[in-house]
Amino acid sequence: MVLDLIHNAQYKEQIISEYKGNPFIEALPEIISSEEVVSKLANFPPYNKEERQLDNQYRAHLVGRLYDVFQPLAIHLDLESRISRVIRQGYVARNVLDKSFVSNNYRSTAGSFTLLGVSGMGKTTVVNRILSMYPQVIVHSKYKDSPLSRYQVVYLRLECSYDGSIKGLCLSFFSKVDEILGTDYYSRFGSGKLSVDNMLVAMSNIAKSISLGLLVIDEIQNLSKSKSGGADRMLNFFVTLVNTIGLPVLLIGTPEAMGVLQGKFRQARRGSGQGDLVFERLDNDINFKLLVTAIWGYQWTKRPTALTDELIETLYDQSQGIIDITVKLYALAQTKAISSGIETITPELIKQVADESLRLVKPMLNALRTGNVMEIVKYPDIYTGNIDLSYELPNWNRFVIPTTSKPPTVENNEKPVKVRTKKVPPSAENDIRVMVQNKEEDLTAYDILKNHGLIKGFEVI
Ligand SMILES: Nc1ncnc2c1ncn2[C@@H]1O[C@H](COP(=O)(O)OP(=O)(O)OP(=O)(O)O)[C@@H](O)[C@H]1O
Ligand SMILES: [Mg+2]
Repeated sequence: MVLDLIHNAQYKEQIISEYKGNPFIEALPEIISSEEVVSKLANFPPYNKEERQLDNQYRAHLVGRLYDVFQPLAIHLDLESRISRVIRQGYVARNVLDKSFVSNNYRSTAGSFTLLGVSGMGKTTVVNRILSMYPQVIVHSKYKDSPLSRYQVVYLRLECSYDGSIKGLCLSFFSKVDEILGTDYYSRFGSGKLSVDNMLVAMSNIAKSISLGLLVIDEIQNLSKSKSGGADRMLNFFVTLVNTIGLPVLLIGTPEAMGVLQGKFRQARRGSGQGDLVFERLDNDINFKLLVTAIWGYQWTKRPTALTDELIETLYDQSQGIIDITVKLYALAQTKAISSGIETITPELIKQVADESLRLVKPMLNALRTGNVMEIVKYPDIYTGNIDLSYELPNWNRFVIPTTSKPPTVENNEKPVKVRTKKVPPSAENDIRVMVQNKEEDLTAYDILKNHGLIKGFEVI
């Protein structure tokens, strides 16, 4: 049993009437504002300029700290809010104090949705960060002077096995529950001769008895590799969990998962008014610049390199807006600058490390660079063209920077960095692009965005 994950229930007064008098909801953390979400999601690890003077072998290690940086994006707020809602709404019908729930005669209030996005856009990272805002296990012993003996597992995150097999998923469910609660489900249901159907029944009974709040299944694209009929069977099972047990389900995958999700699960979800959430690649605009600015201050070369338009352009061109590749390229460029003694980061160095280290993904990045759909469709992990965006797209222009912590900046003796914006005719007065385009001399894009209150607590670079 992992003791760190276990929390004793503390019941909080609820503002929303549907949530009142429900121990499972009252024991959850407070519903927090967007600003608080951003502050909790962001991660800017410590940085000390003196570290630049350390010997090469130490600095090679320090560069690894870059992978801990987390810059919240607008779409993360949407995701956090959905997760917060599905967990609570799922518990509405499953109130242990309610007679209809106890007598098994309740109507599910659970919702479900999918998070799809290009590989390396941070789906797994952000979902883990959001889930870590919740205690994983809450122990109930007494509610309003009446005894209530229950474990509440707020979330469980599983990965779809590489071959997309149902048995693999069931086994990892049993062992995950054993790991956090110290039970012996794996040996009882997993290692014997239970058929897959019986394992699924055991799984849904366990989900019910541990009052599971949200089941997250990552790498759902692996279902496309399951034996014929396997994917449908699994998706039907998820629909049962949502509709019969009342358990919310979140499926995460690359665009390749679209093929298997077209059927029943999608229809069931549509019925409940929830669309897919899609993490697209970043455009080469203020969004990408914000990401690069967040990581740029983490520099361990002896000679500081200020961020320039050309460096941003090169990073975008080489990464095509894929966050994972952007961070890796910057880290690799620093490692190379340190080991070769150049001690400074140049566009040429970034191109060189991209050529040397990204060989496997190069054809995919080239396809994206050319924008040739015939080429792009060859890579199901990145092709999002067939995703039906049936939900309202979030406003990607609005960035939120935490007020509590901020990334370091490189001391800049050069001209302020100019922002290149997409050539979309500006319209609304409060459109970020209008603000940036109409900028007065001497003001950086950051000044302007900050003056408009779109960036908070962020120093001018
Ligand atoms: N918002 C962010 N800020 C900083 N770094 C990020 C951010 N999002 C992702 N990353 C970086 O990208 C890496 C890859 O992210 P992650 O594995 O979560 O992507 P994914 O979408 O789950 O990819 P896959 O589909 O391949 O599983 C992370 O290790 C992290 O370094
Ligand atoms: Mg992932």
